[in-house]
Amino acid sequence: MNLIDGKATAAAIKAEIKAEVEDIVSKGGKRPHLAAVLVGHDGGSETYVKNKVLACEACGFRSTLLRYEDDITEEALLDVVRQLNEDDDIDGFIVQLPLPHHISEQKVTEAIDYRKDVDGFHPVNVGRMAIGLPCFISATPLGILTLLQRYNIPTSGKKVAVLGRSNIVGKPMAQLMMQKQYGDSTVTVLHSHSANLKEECAQADIVIAAIGRPAFVTADMVKEGAVVIDVGTTRVPDATRKNGFRLQGDVDFDAVAPKCSYITPVPGGVGPMTICMLMLNTLAAGKKQIYS
Ligand code: GUN
Repeated sequence: MNLIDGKATAAAIKAEIKAEVEDIVSKGGKRPHLAAVLVGHDGGSETYVKNKVLACEACGFRSTLLRYEDDITEEALLDVVRQLNEDDDIDGFIVQLPLPHHISEQKVTEAIDYRKDVDGFHPVNVGRMAIGLPCFISATPLGILTLLQRYNIPTSGKKVAVLGRSNIVGKPMAQLMMQKQYGDSTVTVLHSHSANLKEECAQADIVIAAIGRPAFVTADMVKEGAVVIDVGTTRVPDATRKNGFRLQGDVDFDAVAPKCSYITPVPGGVGPMTICMLMLNTLAAGKKQIYS
């Protein structure tokens, strides 16, 4: 069994980005600038955004954090988005989700200029991704593709089971693994209403678990020698931890790992790659690599 080290891979990629940024700046080019909009005080969102700002520093980017209380109106938030769209110094920006219930996440996402949508959530980017055109690809699926590539794990012609069908992980992951230019795999998408889910999963060469149910993937669902990618990050209570919780993946790691050729741990697998891919998208935005 080989452990896929997302933390080390992300650190290596961030160092590569930093070197490229310093090269750009030394030649008189612009330092990439990411803005993040955070509404309210959700603990998970605070942590994510803090880590995004730290990653910007590690990559040599400028970053701007815009914070609003959770009583901000939808119209006021849409105005913030419009201002960021028009600010030529901002290369890309994100609005951290989830948003308070009185604000439509869809409306806010669609208000973002797709050329600055480094999350890859805007329908233009989602649509372009689905038909294989250059676009911003959402960070978690892009991070998983990158891990598979960097560990030289063959995907062409392989059977891939994607567990989960969310808009930000399951659906784009399945699309990318299917496409010739990315995974070139045979993809099955499994979800809460799939018949024979366990049996289908057990036939896969590569299992990508993004179902949001702690330790859902058990040893009987994984074939000998499979590659297992765990996207789950559920906070489960743990009195032995200082903060009172630990992160639990969607895979029962201790039981599944001995059967795998490769497996990602939680934490330290997919998670660190997600923020790193946001940095890669921001670099591309700064270079006007995708949309000029
Ligand atoms: N909330 C959880 N993950 C993400 C993400 O990748 N981007 C944004 N904007 N919000 C999130």
